[in-house]
Amino acid sequence: MPVSIAIVGAGQRGLQLAEWVGRSQRLHLAAVCDVDAARAAAAAQRLGVPAETDHRQLLQRTDIQAILVATGAQWHAPVTFDALAAGRHVYVEKPLADTPAVARRMAQAAAAAGTVNVVGYQQRFTPFAALLAAALPPLAPVQALLTAQRGPMNPQYFFPDPYGGVGDYVTHTVDMALWTMGGRPGGVCSHIRRGTIRGDQTLEFQSLIVDFDGGERSATIVTSMLGVRVANLVEYVGTRGTLWTLDQRTVHVATHPGVREAGNRAPDGLETRELTCPAAGDATGASLEHFAARILGEHPPVAPPAASFAEGADALAVAAAAVIAAEQGRRVPLSELD
Ligand SMILES: NC(=O)c1ccc[n+]([C@@H]2O[C@H](COP(=O)([O-])OP(=O)(O)OC[C@H]3O[C@@H](n4cnc5c(N)ncnc54)[C@H](O)[C@@H]3O)[C@@H](O)[C@H]2O)c1
Repeated sequence: MPVSIAIVGAGQRGLQLAEWVGRSQRLHLAAVCDVDAARAAAAAQRLGVPAETDHRQLLQRTDIQAILVATGAQWHAPVTFDALAAGRHVYVEKPLADTPAVARRMAQAAAAAGTVNVVGYQQRFTPFAALLAAALPPLAPVQALLTAQRGPMNPQYFFPDPYGGVGDYVTHTVDMALWTMGGRPGGVCSHIRRGTIRGDQTLEFQSLIVDFDGGERSATIVTSMLGVRVANLVEYVGTRGTLWTLDQRTVHVATHPGVREAGNRAPDGLETRELTCPAAGDATGASLEHFAARILGEHPPVAPPAASFAEGADALAVAAAAVIAAEQGRRVPLSELD
């Protein structure tokens, strides 16, 4: 039997999620909910399911096993707390919440609930993410450099919060950096520039360094919405090898057993290879399939692990710390935000 699921938030993303649910053998869409009655009704008609305008009504329905939360970020928490309290599995769109403190409380509630709860960082389910998960550990990565450059964003993203402007999409890159480097992030240094397009407070440029292990390892992320036609670089350098790519399709990997002597020469035992990665596409479907497979108890899991709420809270803490770090000109330990 497929997992019976309801979508809360019938905006652009909610409707996209509904399409993926419609294609899944593991998921069955049971209802849709939006506080905007006209949106709820339009979505219900389009999707052929009942509509609600209050998510608490949905939770009265005993047949609904899981909730997809696709409201704006500030409403993720109230819907999620109610769904967890009602014993439901929850898939929350990124970012997990609007503040790190609320996100931490959501992570605690999710752990206590014991249901399957994930954050919609679907890029973890691309072929490139799978390649990284397999190729990186032997390199013992010390540094990551990830760029997330793109052209100007649409008007609805011009707002000042850490998850507005470039924060809206760089959260995916932050999650990838944290996931691939592994371990808990310690603190963040950052530089930002706002409002060159409209003279407002929108984040348009950001460069940040996240440290791990007391600064022994780090991930650097460079992003902007004025990176017109710039290739995005992914580069890892470790004590036992390197990996880099400019297109996430052709991936260069060099491995060696370690360098023990000074001198500008190739390390003994150096092996280089070029890997070809299939085109990424939208991995939302794979992310939802993994969520459903975990609820259904399928083994082995169908893809690499999804982002937990604790990991979603870390990504949000990095985004919030980066803004404070830039404004105050200092490294901000993530413990300050707990
Ligand atoms: N994973 C991705 O790649 C991806 C892509 C786009 C958007 N998103 C995320 O999806 C979420 C939604 O984005 P969007 O662009 O669809 O936003 P949107 O503003 O277009 O839609 C949100 C909808 O939620 C409704 N809503 C708000 N509070 C509600 C509540 N308490 N109960 C029910 N409905 C409520 C609103 O009326 C609106 O219709 C955001 O968190 C966004 O960051 C993720």
